[in-house]
Amino acid sequence: MKKILITWANWMLATDFVKCCNNDYAILAYGKNLLDITNIKEVEKVLLETKPWILINFAAYTNVDDAEDVWMKQNYDVNSLWVFTLSKLTNKYKIDFITISTDYVFDWENSTWYNEKDLCNPINQYWMSKYLWEKITLNENLNSIIIRTSWLYWWWYEFKNFVNTMISLSKIKNELKVVNDQLWLPTYTKDLCFAIKDVLENLRSYRWQILHFSNSWKKWISWYEFAREIFDFTWVNVNLLPCDTFSFPTKAVRPKFSLLTNNSNVKLRNRQEWLIDYLNNLKKWNHL
Ligand SMILES: NC(=O)c1ccc[n+]([C@@H]2O[C@H](COP(=O)([O-])OP(=O)(O)OC[C@H]3O[C@@H](n4cnc5c(N)ncnc54)[C@H](OP(=O)(O)O)[C@@H]3O)[C@@H](O)[C@H]2O)c1
Repeated sequence: MKKILITWANWMLATDFVKCCNNDYAILAYGKNLLDITNIKEVEKVLLETKPWILINFAAYTNVDDAEDVWMKQNYDVNSLWVFTLSKLTNKYKIDFITISTDYVFDWENSTWYNEKDLCNPINQYWMSKYLWEKITLNENLNSIIIRTSWLYWWWYEFKNFVNTMISLSKIKNELKVVNDQLWLPTYTKDLCFAIKDVLENLRSYRWQILHFSNSWKKWISWYEFAREIFDFTWVNVNLLPCDTFSFPTKAVRPKFSLLTNNSNVKLRNRQEWLIDYLNNLKKWNHL
């Protein structure tokens, strides 16, 4: 069996990836406690000991707001400096390298769909660190693949995300205000992992490329519309009120649009299919 080494194996994407690929590949899953990607000697030792076919990096600094000030250095250390190290080392040992990037590398000024080759223009610190992440990866390892995704949703019912928050709030409030002037594409982690698996099966055709993977790639949605969909599917009666972004200010600017065009042959399910899957899972755990 081919060996895949994954970093940051404790949560979300990595957990789903192990579930999705465990039968077909030997997955060596390293949590932060086992492998700190900022420790170059440790990373090199693990690569030499395990000799993986491919390294998939799920580790990242991801607090978009704190990257603006208090954790700015950490943001650049993990997302730029250490991704440089991972790219260099994987190149040195001829290991393929897949890493996950974000829709936030674009400024979204054009308020339309952006494709894989569109010009990046990061407008805050986290966005800049991920932009550097991509440049560095592609420069340092020709056998690398960048997967850009947007708004990840994980099935774990206690995890803080928009679907779970809406359901919890509907239990204590009759009226909810939800932002209606941001359009975007949510992505179910399980579907993203199946898409990554498809990439692995055709690795050669995707090397040194940027791929855009989100669910519902033909139709975007606002937070308000998404909330409406959640409550329609769950038969919950809440008075939903649309509001604008300024009602919920944040330190880092968020885009008004985030619409990634996927020009690859790998397609993800549409949003409604995964949402039903997601809500059925909540039901199974008695969280609906
Ligand atoms: N979430 C989204 O909506 C979204 C959207 C687009 C793209 N992405 C991308 O998808 C990837 C995964 O995102 P996510 O939301 O799943 O992130 P996440 O839950 O924050 O997971 C990333 C984890 O990496 C770990 N990490 C940080 N520094 C590390 C180090 N030095 N060594 C080893 N592990 C370290 C962190 O562990 P600690 O918590 O212990 O620090 C963090 O929990 C990221 O590259 C992100 O940019 C996410």
